Amino acid sequence: MDWGLKNRLSRIIKPETGRTVMLAVDHGYFLGPTSGLEKPGETIKPLLPYADSLMLTRGVLRTSVPAESDTPIVLRVSGGTSILHDDLSNEDITTSMLEAIKLNVSAVAISIFVGSAHEKETLTNLAKLVTQGEEYGIPVLAVTAVGREMTRDAKYLSLCCRIAAELGAHLVKTYYCDDFEKVVETCPVPIVIAGGKKIPEKDALTLAHNAISHGAVGVDMGRNIFQSDNPVGMIQAVRVIVHKSATIDKAYGIYKKVT
Ligand code: R5P
Repeated sequence: MDWGLKNRLSRIIKPETGRTVMLAVDHGYFLGPTSGLEKPGETIKPLLPYADSLMLTRGVLRTSVPAESDTPIVLRVSGGTSILHDDLSNEDITTSMLEAIKLNVSAVAISIFVGSAHEKETLTNLAKLVTQGEEYGIPVLAVTAVGREMTRDAKYLSLCCRIAAELGAHLVKTYYCDDFEKVVETCPVPIVIAGGKKIPEKDALTLAHNAISHGAVGVDMGRNIFQSDNPVGMIQAVRVIVHKSATIDKAYGIYKKVT
């Protein structure tokens, strides 16, 4: 791996712990003004000091994050669909690598839709992005999006993660599932998990704890942080699980206590 690419990746996965807390606020790229992200700048500001990186689109980066920020950016560069369509897999690459470099990002992110109508395009888009990323030293995060009809089980998610790694992704984002260690063991690159829909805080912390215990290097969590009644407490609770292997009870105590 080239020095630049390795350096950028180490800005995301912290060398001190080998783990990462990524804050995902890219939902608007197909969901529009998602609950909790109506005014992204206001949501992001108090959370920024606790995020190892911020995952978002170029539009929200430019309008809602101060250019003086030193939080590493993971730029979503796939899109082209909206929640109004049943098939969300018809995505294309929406941002050039040159623009990603100009925005000084630490990685780019693209969704792949294995088993969906546009599986081939999303996979070849990933491969093209990796080729460009290798050329310019920008790591690529593959997001294993799940079609409505797909089951989030270890068999399916192993398939998605392994294909992403085979096509050259440097980091893979997927969902936690039963037998998650099988997904991790068969994927030769690090895995982070999405949080998914908002669930009670203790359940979300349990999810993070289980994922870390079974081999994830971290989380790329959105709604379970910014839709919480205490987002700042929640991100700090997730941090102690990810970086300090804290118990669920200890983390939950931090969520309750931090104001
Ligand atoms: C998916 O469309 C986006 O990449 C989200 O960033 C991802 O699903 C993670 O967010 P959440 O934890 O809310 O699922």
